[in-house]
Amino acid sequence: MAMLEVKRIRKDYVSGLRTVRAVNEVTFKVENGEFITVMGASGAGKSTVLQICAGLIRPTDGVVLYDGVDIFSKDKEELALFRRNNIGYIFQSFNLLPMLTSRENIAVPALLNGKKPDEGTLNGIAETLGITERLDHFPGELSGGEQQRVAIARALVNDPSVIFADEPTGNLDSATAADIMSVFVELNKRGKTVVIVTHDDKVASYCARKIVIADGRIVK
Ligand SMILES: Nc1ncnc2c1ncn2[C@@H]1O[C@H](COP(=O)(O)OP(=O)(O)OP(=O)(O)O)[C@@H](O)[C@H]1O
Ligand SMILES: [Mg+2]
Repeated sequence: MAMLEVKRIRKDYVSGLRTVRAVNEVTFKVENGEFITVMGASGAGKSTVLQICAGLIRPTDGVVLYDGVDIFSKDKEELALFRRNNIGYIFQSFNLLPMLTSRENIAVPALLNGKKPDEGTLNGIAETLGITERLDHFPGELSGGEQQRVAIARALVNDPSVIFADEPTGNLDSATAADIMSVFVELNKRGKTVVIVTHDDKVASYCARKIVIADGRIVK
């Protein structure tokens, strides 16, 4: 059984009289330990697919199964718990909380699970991402690349088995992007499943499998 199976998902965004079909009949499977990239033009539906896979937005139609279980059949609390324990999500726009320091932002998913993150674990993640010196800064005091790394650290704090990253290197220079990609490669080597949305062929070259989306459909 596939770790993740997405079956015929569709997403319609309705605003006023207009409906945008952002995702149209998308079906694919992800096996445990895979390293996948999702590519496609701006507006193709990549972020929407990723957020549906991560249980963050509900599809208009279709199912998302983890080990055969439909996550959207869970109630709100159960789904939130499942997400916090199993899924790390790195948003295209960071989504850091502006009034919390880096350290506090990274700790949020652990605190939501009712446990203080282990200091050693948190410091280790920060070290790997090169943000040790920035742990006591607020997001407004960080560069785009640093905010991105704090967002990655936050996605890793609960030791999820699957990591979804939406354009994780979009705001970084090529050297920093390569550093960040080596973090994902290392995580994948340690058995984590990694799904990355990107425009960048260089990023895609790290991944074993590529899914290409156009107009809400998988084309390759
Ligand atoms: N909340 C929303 N309400 C209405 N329309 C939306 C919403 N979010 C996305 N869309 C529309 O759905 C389509 C797919 O958007 P999505 O963000 O998934 O694209 P994307 O492939 O991630 O693009 P980009 O590469 O620019 O990030 C676009 O036409 C977008 O305008
Ligand atoms: Mg996007």
